[in-house]
Amino acid sequence: MASLGGRTAVVTGASRGIGAGIAEALGGQGVRVVLVARTEAKLKERAARIKGSIAVPCDITDPKSVEQATKRIITELSGVPDILVNNAGIFSVAVAAETTAESFIETINTNLVGPFLFVRAFLGEMKARNRGHIVTIGSIADRTIFTGNAAYSAAKFGLRALHEVMRAELRGTGVRTTLISPAATDTEIWNSVTVTDPAGKPHSKRPMLDPNDVVGAVMFALTQPARVNVDELRLSHG
Ligand SMILES: NC(=O)c1ccc[n+]([C@@H]2O[C@H](COP(=O)([O-])OP(=O)(O)OC[C@H]3O[C@@H](n4cnc5c(N)ncnc54)[C@H](OP(=O)(O)O)[C@@H]3O)[C@@H](O)[C@H]2O)c1
Repeated sequence: MASLGGRTAVVTGASRGIGAGIAEALGGQGVRVVLVARTEAKLKERAARIKGSIAVPCDITDPKSVEQATKRIITELSGVPDILVNNAGIFSVAVAAETTAESFIETINTNLVGPFLFVRAFLGEMKARNRGHIVTIGSIADRTIFTGNAAYSAAKFGLRALHEVMRAELRGTGVRTTLISPAATDTEIWNSVTVTDPAGKPHSKRPMLDPNDVVGAVMFALTQPARVNVDELRLSHG
């Protein structure tokens, strides 16, 4: 396993859930981590637990906000990060006919455009120095469709396509790219979603991965020797 000590990383959506776990795990390996999310207070609280980390509030759906945040990150780190984890995302359930334009646009902007904006800010310099690792948090819904997932699946299918294009374009450059696609994971993302059984009745408990399961997959990909690119890991319920 390669050591990550002394590296730098940006983790989006690091104020809670899977992203907070990834930021903590990276910090524990001696990585200087930049935590990104909208809610400044929560972000600062998380960053305070991780030695040497920085909280940079940003709305990833807003190109101006991303521009300011990425400029600040490049200044703080004296360059682009070694690792970018595009994790921030939102989830809602509605059949296509009942998905509002606002919800569709917000989901595409958060789950697809936001990650692209961060890639765009850092990838040029990563390529120039022949080093870097971009981890994309997809979903099992990035290859398999589920009813009620019109906006989410459209965004995550697109995000997987972005990953696959980068993988093809970056092969041999020293910049690695990994897609991690988890099944349902027990985080706050489910708080506003009513889960129904096949008969359409609401039920609260179904098998869920633990956020640490996803963190473990991310850390596996990041700690492979430089000659190894983990293209894709799909995590489903055992
Ligand atoms: N949990 C699951 O079942 C599951 C399964 C497969 C894939 N995933 C994916 O895993 C990733 C993390 O999900 P999670 O379950 O950890 O969700 P979560 O607990 O709801 O956390 C989402 C994170 O994204 C941030 N975020 C949301 N919108 C943002 C925006 N516009 N700008 C900046 N940050 C934003 C949130 O912070 P603020 O609200 O403070 O901005 C928060 O830190 C997502 O991409 C999700 O699609 C989750």
